[in-house]
Amino acid sequence: MKRILVTGGLGFIGSHTVVELQNSGYDVVIIDNLSNSKIEVLDNITSITEKKPDYHNIDLRNKKDVQHFFQQEKIDGIIHFAASKAVGESVEQPLKYYENNITTLVYLLQEMKKHKISNFIFSSSCTVYGQSDELPITEKAPVKSAESPYGNTKQIGEEIIQESCKADGLTAISLRYFNPIGAHESAKIGELPLGVPQNLIPFVTQTAAGIREQLSVFGGDYPTPDGTAIRDYIHVVDLAQAHIVALERLINNKNKSDYEVYNVGTGKGSSVLEVIQVFEKISNTSLNYKIVDRREGDITAAYANTTLANKELGWKAKKSIEEALSSAWKWQQNQ
Ligand code: WQD
Repeated sequence: MKRILVTGGLGFIGSHTVVELQNSGYDVVIIDNLSNSKIEVLDNITSITEKKPDYHNIDLRNKKDVQHFFQQEKIDGIIHFAASKAVGESVEQPLKYYENNITTLVYLLQEMKKHKISNFIFSSSCTVYGQSDELPITEKAPVKSAESPYGNTKQIGEEIIQESCKADGLTAISLRYFNPIGAHESAKIGELPLGVPQNLIPFVTQTAAGIREQLSVFGGDYPTPDGTAIRDYIHVVDLAQAHIVALERLINNKNKSDYEVYNVGTGKGSSVLEVIQVFEKISNTSLNYKIVDRREGDITAAYANTTLANKELGWKAKKSIEEALSSAWKWQQNQ
């Protein structure tokens, strides 16, 4: 049985990917320092799959702990989620982001080289495109000097991995996520924003649940049909399954080069007002929101051209935005 390390495996996307890995017959070991997740997620994963993943509370910034882990473990592949991911916070604390997102990546790649582990899946983001001139966005769209230190760490991370593949014989796939939303159908795992949610969907569901007073819609004057910004919202379970497909492509040596990149989205753009309308319909609630000024650093529109992932990976998002929002609402009500 192949043993896969999932860093950040107690986080939002990580926990959903651990469930899909276990469902696909993989043995999973998680490293998570609980900086943006809770230990209860481990039991929640176990209650879904009836298999408890191994877990180590290691901070990947501690090089000695990372080295010790790899001396003890035989790993067949790594899916690397662990990173700081708040765009706004990264502008205020850039060095925290470069240390936590880049240094830790280098430590992992050093261990992969030393222990001849070759299969690496990297959690990247469509944020590397900035505001793309081309919509829908293909993987050939220029990667712009990212508009935030967070986005820059994803761009630099991809470059580091590509160079390490060339020099050190690793094989890797970067998955550029669009906007992951929703929760597992069991409502036992989901998005757990600590503090005030930065992302749209948790703020929507917390407003509907009465935890937040009112949703602020950031900007009603974008050059879009209804004036609000457009994003490609993908169900987190669809996204998790893309990781399994990408990992198996490497394990089975189906990759066409040592480093590949794929956009992972639905290919459909939805505006903030459209999301609100769908949410009101599936939750049978009337959401309290107000259109306010744009948020600094936001782009007008981003949605994926998914042809490469569909054709090369043989992966396509299956779930609708209605299903994603219903699962997010069910998760919120289960909190
Ligand atoms: C979506 C839309 C907001 C909150 C970021 C990162 C990306 C990834 C996902 C990590 C935008 C609007 C939001 C609110 C609002 N993160 N909005 N009111 O900014 O597209 O992407 O998170 O991997 O890398 O860049 O996601 O959910 O914050 O915003 O109107 O209270 O909702 O302006 O148009 P974003 P988001």
